[in-house]
Amino acid sequence: MAHFPKAHGVGEWLDHRLNITALKKVMMTEYWIPKDINFLWAMGMILAFTFKILLISGIFLLMYYKPDVNAAFDSVNYTIMQEVGYGWLFRHIHAVGASVIFLVIYIHMFTGIYYGSYKKGREMIWLSGMLLLILFSAEAFSGYMLPWGQMSYWAAYVITNIFGGIPLIGDELVVWIRGNFYVADATLTRFFMLHVLLVPLAIMGGIAFHFYTLRIPHVNNQTGEDIDFGKEAEKYKENPKRSKIIPFWPVFMAKDVFVLSVFLLFFFYLVFYNYGFAMDPVNFDPANGLKTPAHIYPEWYFLWSYEVLRGFFFDIGPLKAADIGLLAFGFAQAILLFMPWLDRSPTVAPANQRPYFRYWFWIMIVVLIVLTIYGKLPPTGTNAWIGFASSIAFIVMFAILPVITEKEARTVAGGKK
Ligand code: HEM
Repeated sequence: MAHFPKAHGVGEWLDHRLNITALKKVMMTEYWIPKDINFLWAMGMILAFTFKILLISGIFLLMYYKPDVNAAFDSVNYTIMQEVGYGWLFRHIHAVGASVIFLVIYIHMFTGIYYGSYKKGREMIWLSGMLLLILFSAEAFSGYMLPWGQMSYWAAYVITNIFGGIPLIGDELVVWIRGNFYVADATLTRFFMLHVLLVPLAIMGGIAFHFYTLRIPHVNNQTGEDIDFGKEAEKYKENPKRSKIIPFWPVFMAKDVFVLSVFLLFFFYLVFYNYGFAMDPVNFDPANGLKTPAHIYPEWYFLWSYEVLRGFFFDIGPLKAADIGLLAFGFAQAILLFMPWLDRSPTVAPANQRPYFRYWFWIMIVVLIVLTIYGKLPPTGTNAWIGFASSIAFIVMFAILPVITEKEARTVAGGKK
């Protein structure tokens, strides 16, 4: 057959059948990345790597975990932590990984916001990223329930209860999600299935889609310059020094591996010396549906939105506090999706070159930190008022974003590119 000449060696044999040379070109040696980027552009790769760590450690935990309300707590706290060789290590890696992946997701998201990497042409990158955020939140929430400790039980109770606020179908929906009238064995087994099968599969598809969305617009750079990748690729082939881009393999990969090594040092420092931050002490008590913990709160990465949910602690006119909280919570979950359209300035530039947006960006970070801190404190006295004020601030910040960015585009010289 003319298409399949005699191959010299296994590599060539495979190449004739799978066209690996072309694949290597498209994915690696001719997958172009701008030169003008910093270590923050390695966060995406760190996320993909941390997800793999979570998958592998999760598979080991799965060998001993028992999804049954009478056995789950002991299978985690005795079998895995004390009886299985290195079970504790896999649990620490999994718990720390789950926490750290959110830290990196937030850094990655805010890098995108800071550099305007969601703007015209890159909206799909942003939307697929948001899909991943939703999926990771579902994965973290379902996983937190599995040890069947006090906080697992009560967090599941509070969060599933939120759906009860949806008009008309709310009560039915809560029972449907729980599989029972209260959080019970049926709830644990379905969250187990979601955590170990359905959501990880969806995440894998989500990551593949996110990577695909990056291919047409290419990644952004530190100044927001609209690079002509075709022309720059030609220049690179003539003289790499004169080009504004580098190939993913091996040049960019080497940079990525350096940042990844630093990240892994930090990661394993946490795994061995500071894993406690990823495991709530209250969750070392077995779940007890008759004993409510003094104070219920989620993991640190959900605290900001939890604080928005409970920030509105008094009725306003005919609206009940719980309903306002629910609306604000829904707003907080959905609004980030619209970032590419809320930011009305078409200029792709870092926040420090944008006179209005730069204030918006840093104030937003402060608001989120305040919400996170107060989300963990009991909502009484001054705490409740600070929670209320920062929840309002969060909503107002997004409401004014189109106005200030529109003004920025109109008034700043060179505002429109
Ligand atoms: C957790 C799973 C995720 C993985 C594995 C992932 C992976 C990546 C990778 C490898 C890149 C290219 C290099 C880089 O800029 O880091 C990237 C870019 C990007 N990601 Fe993600 N990402 C994830 C989640 C998210 C989330 C939650 C968002 C925000 C909604 C997001 C928004 C973006 C944007 C806007 C870019 C383009 C950056 C640019 O053009 O400079 N990603 N992602």
